[in-house]
Amino acid sequence: MIFDVDFATILFQMAPSPEGFKRKIVFLDSVDSTSLYAASLRDADEGTVVLADEQKSGRGRLGRSWVSEKGKNLTFSLILKPGSPAEYSGLISLLAGLAVAETLETVAGLVPECKWPNDVLLKGKKVCGILTEATITGGRLSRAILGVGLNVNQARFPGAIQPPPTSLLNESGRSFDLTAVLTAVLTTVERRYSDFRDRKYETIIREWKKRSTTIGKTLNVRTGESEIQGFARGIAPDGALLLEVDGSERKIFAADITVV
Ligand code: BTN
Repeated sequence: MIFDVDFATILFQMAPSPEGFKRKIVFLDSVDSTSLYAASLRDADEGTVVLADEQKSGRGRLGRSWVSEKGKNLTFSLILKPGSPAEYSGLISLLAGLAVAETLETVAGLVPECKWPNDVLLKGKKVCGILTEATITGGRLSRAILGVGLNVNQARFPGAIQPPPTSLLNESGRSFDLTAVLTAVLTTVERRYSDFRDRKYETIIREWKKRSTTIGKTLNVRTGESEIQGFARGIAPDGALLLEVDGSERKIFAADITVV
């Protein structure tokens, strides 16, 4: 098991959500992917969290995999049911990255950076990846499975991955209580999600931009087979990246980016 306590104790230790979320935690010792499992819970309440000690086939963005050492890190998926207009769906990843960055500032005293659309970096290395899987019904975002992989106590990361991975342990020199970090992350995600539900889209974008490594930089942007270079002008109200290419502005909704 991931924690030194049993499941009931995890629930007991987890402070109630200040935003009124139910915080029902489904804890699994091992699963293929917490996001796949969460998607299978058809009638789950908003705020349900699927948390796993180990993922056998953790999923990353753009068909990649997410590998995390058993028992060392946080891998969980939060079920959200916003019902907001579908065009704002891209903001869910942004608010989650912002919330994780804010949490790492407070719990670890670190200086995280947000890389569009949804990575959190520490000194240029990736400490957290976020995968949002949206269900659109009748023009509304009826459900979003927010998958978060946060490297906490893992020391070694084999393989050549870009950007190179890191953990809170590696960047701060100390290990962290996973329950405490999970509680802090959930509290901050719930707070930023409340901003989203209150349509404070500009607040989310403004706070995200303060921590951005992306805006104001020249980027290589890879979408599928094609790669373009452009200057990152800003973030659109829907969370898309505004890229200036040869004097005209393009909206990028999903891509892999690297700073030139
Ligand atoms: C990325 O950076 O490519 C996104 C990685 C997202 C990983 C998390 S771990 C918990 C949840 N379950 C998954 O299978 N993926 C996400």
